[in-house]
Amino acid sequence: MSSNQNDVVFFDENGLRTDGRRPDEIRPMKIKIGVLSRANGSCYLEWGANKVLAAVYGPREAHPKRTQRAGQAIIRYRYNMQSFSVEDRARPGPSRRSSEISKVSREAFEPVVLTDAYPKAAIDIFVEVLQADAGTRTAAINAASLALVDAGIPIRGLVSACAVGKVGGKIVLDLNKPEDNYGEADLPIAMTEDGKITLVQMDGHLTPSEFEEAMELVQKGCRQVLEIQKAALMEKFVADGNFDETVE
Ligand code: CDP
Repeated sequence: MSSNQNDVVFFDENGLRTDGRRPDEIRPMKIKIGVLSRANGSCYLEWGANKVLAAVYGPREAHPKRTQRAGQAIIRYRYNMQSFSVEDRARPGPSRRSSEISKVSREAFEPVVLTDAYPKAAIDIFVEVLQADAGTRTAAINAASLALVDAGIPIRGLVSACAVGKVGGKIVLDLNKPEDNYGEADLPIAMTEDGKITLVQMDGHLTPSEFEEAMELVQKGCRQVLEIQKAALMEKFVADGNFDETVE
């Protein structure tokens, strides 16, 4: 959050944002499932100018063995930003930020993956950010969710993620880069299909009533994302003929 946030104009005379969106509108999202042949499941996702690639491996025997759990599979999640993905080169290798994002993203999936079915196994989720423009952790979670389905891993439902924030005194959905940089608050959220929140983070300040408004709006954002994820799954599995819609 920058100290010169008061100098930034976030809305035009019609109340539209710098990229022409309404406050409750998410950026356009494009999805392609099954883009990597060596991974068990994969997904390439663009959200506005964000470009991310998710790959899922497993369930496979967890190594090293001391990481195995007798009654269930472990989930590992690695979020990584390519050095060319941001304006200033991002330093390669893990950072405090990427470790934190990996941890909270793994926790966003733990309630939905049926880990009990695979004792001693590991399910590995890797996400590479190829181009970043604010909202990469939510884009990554949306791609990872579809890569898990593509890998055939049993889940209770999809996880959908979206950020909400406050810019120029207003609550808006899915912050873009200037809004993220100069806005007053940014809250990435992940939600299960049945409306349970599995990730909430917050950077900046909101009053309790603004927080409530933000949570209400972001759930609408997650629902919009869910519809796009479902459409991508239909396109992949119905178009490929891997899914028979007719029930005898
Ligand atoms: O990407 P996300 O909004 O989940 O995380 P963030 O830490 O709030 O970062 C916001 C944005 O800052 C990223 O999407 C990148 O565009 C940018 N960023 C950057 O330019 N260099 C970094 N080392 C980290 C983030």
